[in-house]
Amino acid sequence: MNRLSDLLGVDLPIIQAPMAGVQGSALAIAVSNAGGLGSLPCAMLGPQALQQELAAIRAQTAKPFNVNFFCHRQPDPDASREAAWRAALAPYFDEYGIDPGTIAPGPARQPFSAEAVDVLAAFAPPVVSFHFGLPPAALLQRVRAWGAKVLSSATTIDEALWLEAHGADAIIAQGLEAGGHRGIFLSEDLNSQLGTFALLPQVVAAVKVPVIAAGGIADAAGVAAAMKLGAAGVQIGTSYLLCPEATTSALHRAALRSDASRVTALTNLFTGRPARGIVNRLIRELGPISTVAPPFPLAAAAIAPLRAKAEAAGHADFSPLWSGQNASGCREIPAAQLTRELAGALQRAG
Ligand SMILES: Cc1cc2nc3c(=O)[nH]c(=O)nc-3n(C[C@H](O)[C@H](O)[C@H](O)COP(=O)(O)O)c2cc1C
Repeated sequence: MNRLSDLLGVDLPIIQAPMAGVQGSALAIAVSNAGGLGSLPCAMLGPQALQQELAAIRAQTAKPFNVNFFCHRQPDPDASREAAWRAALAPYFDEYGIDPGTIAPGPARQPFSAEAVDVLAAFAPPVVSFHFGLPPAALLQRVRAWGAKVLSSATTIDEALWLEAHGADAIIAQGLEAGGHRGIFLSEDLNSQLGTFALLPQVVAAVKVPVIAAGGIADAAGVAAAMKLGAAGVQIGTSYLLCPEATTSALHRAALRSDASRVTALTNLFTGRPARGIVNRLIRELGPISTVAPPFPLAAAAIAPLRAKAEAAGHADFSPLWSGQNASGCREIPAAQLTRELAGALQRAG
């Protein structure tokens, strides 16, 4: 008996990772209709866009799906930190003729909010997942009121225990190999971060709720190996990035297809929080971790115009090329086919 299938009502224990900025409802719908759990990343959606995406999902699948939110605390703006960050980027502003005085500071990603719950309630998504911990208890209670199952990422054993104690129905053990933002929330110490196959069995031993493995899993053998180590399911992101249903940019797709995808780094340059992406010019020249980058999500504001100008000129030098350490599973095939293939070894095993 697969506890994840029981908990989430899916046929296959494959969760398509929510990936803000590179996918919308189309990928989620394709994966859910194939029997996995499709996910809609909502961190960068305003209420109207959220409403539209949820309506699209409800119209195109009757299967369970997941909506995903960040639940960071919005930092207070710090003018001196912002100035130091802009000074570090000054040579690039000069290169692209950007007047930093025209860049509005401010957050591009909002934490989960009462406004978002108001929109969600009408659609009652069956699964809600969070990154960076859990939202305040009152908001979580509203999500539970329509019967949603709650998932969140843990990057350490302590975080897994914390999530279990605060009401997560299942825990995503996010190993260091994973692409995109680390879900780390109890500490800022990157030495606390474990690889997937070190983290997974230790989390399985520590908690009673089902554990979902994430990070570096890119084929059916990897899925089967994670299940063997006690995972109730897997969450896979990077491998879906070349699917036609993803909105991954042409520059990002090209980087994923190239040998450059073999070298990734954990970097805080693009948003202020550590996230894994393919090493590009900004990471090479500033170093992956900056002590002056403003806290999440404020670092992104000053990068945005550089990214826009460079991308318009055909360069990914300032783009976050999020990817896990194993991009070998990225293929230009429909997400439904990828989902079925990822689960293939499990079905054969009966
Ligand atoms: C492009 C990209 C964007 C991501 N965005 C999110 C996000 O919005 N919310 C989230 O919870 N996780 C996000 N993640 C992390 C995934 O949930 C997951 O931990 C990761 O993809 C698993 O590792 P893998 O990429 O090696 O499969 C993202 C990952 C990638 C690759």
